[in-house]
Amino acid sequence: MALEAIEYSDDIQNLLLSRGHDKLAHHPNKYLICDEERRSLKEVSPSTYIPIISLEELGGRSRPVAIEKLKKACKEHGFFQVANHGVSEALMGDMMEIAEEYFDMPLEDEVHLCTNDYRKRTRVCTRFCNTSNKDVHMHWRDYLRHPCYPIEYHIDSWPNNPSSYRYIAAKYATAMRGVTLKLLGGISESLGLARDYIENALGEQNQTMQINCYPPCPKPELTPLALAAHTDPNCLTLVQDNGVSGLQIMKDGTWLDIPPLHEAFFVHIGDQLQVISNGEYKSLVHRAMTNSVKRRMSIPTFYGPSLDAVIKPASSLASANVHGPLYVPFTYRRFLDHFYSIKLYTTTLQQFEVANCTK
Ligand code: OGA
Ligand code: NI
Repeated sequence: MALEAIEYSDDIQNLLLSRGHDKLAHHPNKYLICDEERRSLKEVSPSTYIPIISLEELGGRSRPVAIEKLKKACKEHGFFQVANHGVSEALMGDMMEIAEEYFDMPLEDEVHLCTNDYRKRTRVCTRFCNTSNKDVHMHWRDYLRHPCYPIEYHIDSWPNNPSSYRYIAAKYATAMRGVTLKLLGGISESLGLARDYIENALGEQNQTMQINCYPPCPKPELTPLALAAHTDPNCLTLVQDNGVSGLQIMKDGTWLDIPPLHEAFFVHIGDQLQVISNGEYKSLVHRAMTNSVKRRMSIPTFYGPSLDAVIKPASSLASANVHGPLYVPFTYRRFLDHFYSIKLYTTTLQQFEVANCTK
């Protein structure tokens, strides 16, 4: 069936991006960005120092030293790279390869997963709108995402095309969960909490794998943003990339390029860790840029609470702070509903600040 022959719903039209259609030609205004954002695009500094955390060091006799490094990375940067993580290069390569294959397939095969409804936890979608002015602006990105924990519970919802997708993604998700839990143990201790504190605070836990596909953009000068500035709503994010740059982070008011990390994962803090740590650690503002030459792929693992988990600042950290707890308790479901209902994805936490709730 030719693509043109399908009468697309809005959701599916939005997916044409990665299928070789020139979206700019179809929706010329949807991809433009406002002047304010355009200014911020020019003021970018070259790539920055990225602290390295060795998982081997964290697991060995040098753990106390590694915890100190982790604390400094989380407190001063909000991000780091994790090395010696034990996920084999072969598995990382297989995962990226199958991810690329997935986005090379014809759209028709995946129509059943296409939706903009964020409550559908397995979905193929393009929308994560940047609406810093009142119009809807599309991002230069398509993505597949699906929950991964527990695997047995979710695997039937995953794509089974390419035929080895489920097998490889399950191996990858298991390995990524292992790395994440080790990091969360270290991060808990770096805050003076019990090693399993954060893991327990996440309730039944929620691990989501996402495959972001950023096709080359014919006019990056018109559409420089592939993904607008945001913080991730979850607790901790680990990103693998395909060697094409595009990720930028905000540090001390300046945008900085993050170069591709190849065999390491780029790890950064999400909103829930900011809450649990009572603001000791801040979630990282980041975005992605387009380029006209190479398709960029990234595979974030989002680790966070189950929907019913009640998230609040750890009581020892709240009582150590002269201002007490900075956030009111909330369920993650409520947080996500708010995250998806506002249009400026860097401000979700404000709604849950004690200071804003007692006014
Ligand atoms: C995201 C994200 C960045 C990237 O999907 O939330 O920030 O490098 N991705 O693709
Ligand atoms: Ni993100």
